[in-house]
Amino acid sequence: MKKSTQIKKVTQLTLFTQFTQFTQFTLFTWLKIIVQIFQLDKLSKLSKPGKLGFLFFIISSLIFTTALYAKVTGPCVNCHTMHNSQNGQAMNRGDTPWGGSGTLNTPNETLLNATCLGCHSSTDGETIKTLPGGQKVPIVFNTTGYPANPLSGGNFYWVSTGVASSENDTKGHNVFLGNGDDNLSSAPGDVGGGTCGGVNACHKNLYASTSPPSFGFPGARQGCTKCHMVGTDFPKGYHHINDTDPLKNSTSDGWFRFLSGHQSGSGHGVTGLIDVNWQHDASSTVHNEYLGYSGTKTSAGGFSALGNTMTAYCTGCHGNFHIEQSTSNAWIRHPSDAVIPNSGEFASAYNATGGTGTYDPRVPVARPTLNGWTTPDATVRLGTDLVMCLSCHRAHGSPYSKIMRWDYKGWPASGEFNGCTVCHTGKN
Ligand code: HEC
Ligand code: HEC
Ligand code: HEC
Ligand code: HEC
Ligand code: HEC
Ligand code: HEC
Repeated sequence: MKKSTQIKKVTQLTLFTQFTQFTQFTLFTWLKIIVQIFQLDKLSKLSKPGKLGFLFFIISSLIFTTALYAKVTGPCVNCHTMHNSQNGQAMNRGDTPWGGSGTLNTPNETLLNATCLGCHSSTDGETIKTLPGGQKVPIVFNTTGYPANPLSGGNFYWVSTGVASSENDTKGHNVFLGNGDDNLSSAPGDVGGGTCGGVNACHKNLYASTSPPSFGFPGARQGCTKCHMVGTDFPKGYHHINDTDPLKNSTSDGWFRFLSGHQSGSGHGVTGLIDVNWQHDASSTVHNEYLGYSGTKTSAGGFSALGNTMTAYCTGCHGNFHIEQSTSNAWIRHPSDAVIPNSGEFASAYNATGGTGTYDPRVPVARPTLNGWTTPDATVRLGTDLVMCLSCHRAHGSPYSKIMRWDYKGWPASGEFNGCTVCHTGKN
């Protein structure tokens, strides 16, 4: 069969599956429900407003189920291949981005038809890709240029093979296989974790593959999976977790963005409130929420010392940037997880008056607690909210040196936005 016919067939099959799902669940069930509700008072003794109310309840619950947060949906064939073979041809496209061409590959773990990188990268400039059936895929690497609307973590474009250079390597975590950082041979600020797992331990580099088994994880880890542990076994279950709560604060809901760790065994991870569009359209009212902890400024990093915070997560590999923050009440490394005071130059941070300013997704803050949160807060509360690693850095990559969220190195010559002054208003 010609490749184009093959693709057409797959699309037809996909559409057919969707159509049958539609008829089964939508037309049939709906007709049944509507007929039952409005059948002359035989089935129910509800009044007309009562029936309308019930109908409304059904409609809203149906709409709500389609807005499930962390669960992948749609035809299995979009993402899995049973034998990695169709008409004798391999189906796993490996690292090949959406819209790209590449060689077909050997079978993948969990029968996936692509690697993490393959599924999360694209040849066009879009950072959200929609699959047949409506499932949205967050894109973290656009192969043809840094995208106009990067997602919250930024984008890996500048550290990709062919683009990477000693200058560009500073703009991201180097996750591409075989493409190490020209300047760094381990995670700056690492407190010794770099020795466990051998020369390719996650703390040493993110580009090379660790050989299994390590830290009780049976699979090899490389790139993405050195940070997103995706469950205790490689890569199991997080994508399919059926969970409607936007607050991710446990293993059973996959943590925030599948960010778990191995400190003191499993069961540790990042707590956060997710934006469903991964901050594609971020504003003061639309954004993720991060947890912070202001307990100690000199303790070890990691989850057991700092709780389920983003700073704890980053310090798992960059521990000294927390441990050595302060000595004799003087800062010797910039604080992370420190409360932004409601005094001095900080009193007008985030354009605050009376201690309350406007949240700016270019310079996010962490909150001391997220318990019970269901929506993002559009305000920054001085004296309460905290500066943290992601106030200044992106997690994946950015157009700027040291993965900064703004052009720190080029300012003021660049004339661009300077995030430092959002807090340090006296230095504007
Ligand atoms: C076959 C395609 C596919 C593959 C392969 C894949 N993902 Fe995903 N991933 C998705 C889709 C689709 C979503 C969006 C899920 C949703 O709506 O929450 C997603 C979401 C995510 C998220 C964000 C979770 C959130 O809160 O929205 C992370 C992190 C992630 N994937 C990491 C990985 C890692 C690491 C791997 C490799 C082990 C991987 N993915 C492999 C399709 C894929
Ligand atoms: C250094 C650790 C690290 C590495 C390596 C890493 N991620 Fe992430 N990732 C994060 C963090 C932290 C976030 C949350 C970012 C935020 O909220 O701003 C995140 C967020 C995401 C998201 C949600 C979209 C977004 O931008 O918030 C996806 C999808 C994702 N990562 C996939 C991947 C894939 C695929 C790879 C490998 C190509 C990868 N990550 C490598 C740490 C990492
Ligand atoms: C949009 C992409 C996507 C679709 C659609 C999808 N999966 Fe998955 N699935 C994944 C990814 C990515 C993983 C591996 C990463 C993880 O486990 O989080 C996975 C893992 C799995 C696993 C192993 C982990 C576990 O939970 O036991 C099973 C089994 C599985 N999928 C079955 C299915 C079936 C059956 C369907 C169709 C009803 C389906 N998947 C549809 C992306 C998808
Ligand atoms: C699993 C270990 C690991 C985690 C977790 C991790 N990093 Fe890194 N980081 C590294 C390594 C290794 C390097 C050096 C090589 C590179 O850039 O890939 C690095 C480099 C950096 C750099 C310098 C970039 C450069 O190339 O000059 C910054 C900035 C950074 N990390 C920030 C963060 C932040 C912020 C977080 C939390 C979101 C984080 N890291 C989490 C391992 C990690
Ligand atoms: C106030 C803003 C800010 C905060 C908060 C911040 N950083 Fe940085 N970071 C920077 C800047 C700016 C640089 C560039 C080097 C410099 O000017 O010191 C940098 C550099 C780095 C580097 C590269 C160091 C090297 O040797 O190349 C790493 C790694 C890093 N930061 C990790 C972190 C981690 C982890 C956290 C949280 C514990 C964090 N940063 C919090 C602003 C910040
Ligand atoms: C989200 C708010 C925030 C941002 C953004 C921020 N800072 Fe800070 N910075 C703080 C806080 C909070 C302190 C600690 C203040 C205190 O407790 O007195 C601090 C402390 C400092 C100090 C030490 C001051 C002292 O008295 O010892 C310097 C220097 C500094 N920041 C520079 C920077 C630079 C440069 C940038 C941009 C790269 C930056 N900060 C970005 C919140 C921020």
